Amino acid sequence: MRSVIDIVDLTAAEIDGLIATAEDIIANPAKYSEKCRGKKLATLFFEPSTRTRLSFEAAMYELGGNVLGFASADSSSATKGETVPDTVRVVGCYADIIAMRHPKEGAPLAASMYSPVPIINAGDGGHSHPTQTLADLLTIKREKGRLSDLTVGFCGDLKFGRTVHSLVKALLRYEGIKLVFISPDELRVPDYIRDELESAGADWLETASLEQAMPELDILYMTRVQKERFFNEADYIRLKDSYILTADKMALGKSDMCVLHPLPRVNEIPMEIDEDSRACYFKQVKNGKYMRMALILKLLEVE
Ligand code: NCD
Repeated sequence: MRSVIDIVDLTAAEIDGLIATAEDIIANPAKYSEKCRGKKLATLFFEPSTRTRLSFEAAMYELGGNVLGFASADSSSATKGETVPDTVRVVGCYADIIAMRHPKEGAPLAASMYSPVPIINAGDGGHSHPTQTLADLLTIKREKGRLSDLTVGFCGDLKFGRTVHSLVKALLRYEGIKLVFISPDELRVPDYIRDELESAGADWLETASLEQAMPELDILYMTRVQKERFFNEADYIRLKDSYILTADKMALGKSDMCVLHPLPRVNEIPMEIDEDSRACYFKQVKNGKYMRMALILKLLEVE
């Protein structure tokens, strides 16, 4: 039995396999519509979510399976003091696989040590979010035709943005990747990611200027300033509009650049940018469902 807590729990070859499955699902959806008949997915979300939870649920329904679960800690026995290990031991009696989101870093890992069924980390605090990375990788692959030889800019909250941490780790395994981190000083990538960049011998740089970075980017990964992780409202207000992707800034980018955003967006991408053919964030949402379908099939060992 296998859980996916961190993106590097999957090898690069396994990720290629998931991408191949997702592409096959896109081409032949009918072939997959009964694959999980009789199986149940539990979504245990101790923290708010729209896309990730619904994406997992839609993925399981499209595979012919069923879903159960809760969408907030308030409606679970966590309010009575139940621990995460106990919750998953109980839910493991009802479901074949569990997707869990939790505000505490490491909670899904702890869950995986006790759960009788596979656990998928659907986001743990400011730490990691491997299935968003799967969505990101499929989108890059489909838009650019490759996962190597790319200059990828990450812009916004690189400190608390768990989607950034997971995607960086994943990209470090491909050839010819250059990473450009664009953030205010207070929201730079955390030390543990810096250590990973150093030990991988990565090609990376940091800047505060989106305008300066823009012309060389193949991918621009925009992020929301993670309000819920700030201790201090004043800091959030000061930093929240640090980078707004206006049409003027888009004009500095390559004509085949691809703009990604895990969503939800707040102010960082104005709606007028949605009309630009380089805006790929709604395609990314769709791709997330296909990659979650592929991952569920893999972890449930469905042929
Ligand atoms: C992200 C998350 O939850 O980390 N959203 C998502 O899962 N697509 C990004 C965010 O909340 O800003």
